[in-house]
Amino acid sequence: MKVKPADRTGKVQEYYFSKKLAQIDRMRKEGADIISLGIGSPDQAPSDSTIANLISYAVRPESHGYQSYIGIPALRKAFSDWYRKYFRVELNPDNEILPLMGSKEGIMHISLAFVNPGDEVLIPDPGYPTYSSVTNLAGGIIRKYDLVEKTGWHPDIEALEKSDLSRVKLMWINYPHMPSGTRGSTQLFEKLVAFATRNNILLCNDNPYSFILNNDYHSLLETEGAREIALELNSLSKSHNMAGWRIGMVAGDSGYIKEILRVKSNMDSGMFLPVQMAAVEALHNPESWYESVNTVYVRRRKTVEEIMDVLCCNYDKSQVGLFLWGRIPENVASCEDYVEEILNEAHVFITPGFIFGENGERYIRISLCATEEKLKEAKERIMKTRRKEKGERRKGRI
Ligand SMILES: Cc1ncc(COP(=O)(O)O)c(C=O)c1O
Repeated sequence: MKVKPADRTGKVQEYYFSKKLAQIDRMRKEGADIISLGIGSPDQAPSDSTIANLISYAVRPESHGYQSYIGIPALRKAFSDWYRKYFRVELNPDNEILPLMGSKEGIMHISLAFVNPGDEVLIPDPGYPTYSSVTNLAGGIIRKYDLVEKTGWHPDIEALEKSDLSRVKLMWINYPHMPSGTRGSTQLFEKLVAFATRNNILLCNDNPYSFILNNDYHSLLETEGAREIALELNSLSKSHNMAGWRIGMVAGDSGYIKEILRVKSNMDSGMFLPVQMAAVEALHNPESWYESVNTVYVRRRKTVEEIMDVLCCNYDKSQVGLFLWGRIPENVASCEDYVEEILNEAHVFITPGFIFGENGERYIRISLCATEEKLKEAKERIMKTRRKEKGERRKGRI
């Protein structure tokens, strides 16, 4: 390149999935039929009325102009009603909710609004890789905190508090947790809010998975004292099967929201009106709609558990969310080798846990975003390669 990119680009790597999907694409071009159980992109449809609303607004000539930076009032009100109904949280739609193009962009806006170069940011390990890359882009310093099976994938707050927290500005949490599938709870959020308050740390919960295989909904914002110190991101990507539509929100005290808007309004304009109107409709889906989506996930989850069994992985059955997280057998060298072997031999792609951090190194993650038929086929293929391997072992070839 004749022109050098900015130094900050060197601080982030190409997203693991973008590299892996390119490899899968090459394998497919060479004729391999790959089943991908990697990414959590819901394959079921949004509700019929959501799509009908999109269409009905898209044909109106007045729908195509720029939209307000803060989203249409009907969308903010719909988010507010949704939070009251499911999370028992009262949010003022005028100034405590900011619609976003998915929660991922919110991670960037929050970081740019609150993290100065040199500020430390507490990031879960394992956790969603975007928290780290965005912190790097914002000039913050990553401070990973451990989440491990032994402590139920909850942070060890006492250990954290023994360390120097004076430069920590922000802490990312994500319950229900991806990738471990751990639920949030009132007690956990109370402890975290108290910790954040004592140490003057902005606590952000990224909450896109509450509605998948779970009906015990918790918001960080329902915790007493959370308004002063906490924000929550939410999204329609997984909860309403609308990942490609790009609709999410951030909620919290109006002062924090104003600062986030200061950043966001300089980067993009409001979302396409028909998308916003469709999201209003989606947020009013009856409870039976969530149940019907979950009925499909329940069946798929059973097959995914069987895949984990075939792979001799241990997993916690109480996991919620769009994935199953399993511990690889002791005799397997690494999750990366295991995943590569499964991809090459069975032509099934599974996410290796190391991409979520060091504490994910002995784990793999399987997505529920594939039809039952595909999942069963994946299981059959893996079983066949395992059988073959066992046979070879018996014959002493490996
Ligand atoms: C923990 C977590 N946060 C945020 C996102 C991004 O969601 P959105 O589509 O709302 O940007 C994902 C997507 O995979 C995720 O797993």
